[in-house]
Amino acid sequence: MIRSGELVAFPTETVYGLGANALDVAAVKKTYAAKGRPVDNPLIVHVYDKAQIYDLASEVNDFAAKVIERLMPAPITIVLPKKDVVSGVVTAGLPSVAVRMPLSDEARRFLKAARVPVSAPSANISGRPSPTTWQRVADDMDGRIAAVLCGAPCQVGIESTVLDLSRDEPIILRPGAVSEQRLSQLLGVPVGILKDPSSKVNSPGVRYKHYAPSVPMVLELDDDYDKLCDFYDKKAAAGLNPVLWARDPARFGQRHAVDMGANDLEAAANLYETMRLLEKQYGFIIACFCWTKNSPYDGSASQGVLDRLMRACGHNVI
Ligand code: TXA
Ligand code: MG
Repeated sequence: MIRSGELVAFPTETVYGLGANALDVAAVKKTYAAKGRPVDNPLIVHVYDKAQIYDLASEVNDFAAKVIERLMPAPITIVLPKKDVVSGVVTAGLPSVAVRMPLSDEARRFLKAARVPVSAPSANISGRPSPTTWQRVADDMDGRIAAVLCGAPCQVGIESTVLDLSRDEPIILRPGAVSEQRLSQLLGVPVGILKDPSSKVNSPGVRYKHYAPSVPMVLELDDDYDKLCDFYDKKAAAGLNPVLWARDPARFGQRHAVDMGANDLEAAANLYETMRLLEKQYGFIIACFCWTKNSPYDGSASQGVLDRLMRACGHNVI
């Protein structure tokens, strides 16, 4: 199906992707239509083999060579100057291409069988949370794509780290499970995370309004039990049907509370699935993500989880 220009959704270790033959412009164009994605938001090209990266990128500097050799396959995407074979439709007119070599066995088997590089955004309708199970892909994309490969739920649960290596200094455009610390260590230079979406070094994707639940959501970052309970009680008294989304939900007693996960990796794995559930069942989401040094949440996915929660609540921190 991929080789005949169809769209096929497939599992990866991060989220499900919406695959098309990256070398077939007509197929890639269908991706934007199926998702309702703005055409100036470029796609990631997925490969099975490291050699394919050198077919797509016109220059692989020392930083990139290190990431390719020492990290990949992994939940990381690198942005490199593109070769002419990569259409501007894939890169939204940019001179660079984002390349990723997924880690999961299911993704690797799919990409190997495809025998072409596969462009793939997350397999959700634009503005919805990324799908981490095939059922959520079907909810969004049924009738719009040729097939979905029904694999296991995604283990990482948040999208890959996007690392821009097309400039002199490496910078993370989107935090993910491959952390800032790990990349700084590997590359031997401090690797920053892009903070201000209006600054010049930019990933087009971070400009767009990210997924926000269909019900109001706030974020609490101190795990202040009294503050959380007070806030909940006020919303409950106002008839808003609130829910606490936090670690160790049993401590909230009779109040409605849902588990955020015992650590940041668990939080990441269940993040989008739980968001889709909470907005259906409740009227107000009070999320708590407290990330202090050496706490159970201080792991490789903490920056990525915080980033997605911040976007989901529109930076509305209580
Ligand atoms: O984990 C993932 O990366 C998943 C799975 C399916 O691999 N894919 C994914 O794709 O999250 P998508 O389209 O939802 O996000 C792609 C991100 C966007 O923020 C986009 O702007 C950025 O990558 N991107 C793509 N090409 C780029 C480029 N040439 N320069 C800068 N950013 C780029
Ligand atoms: Mg996406």
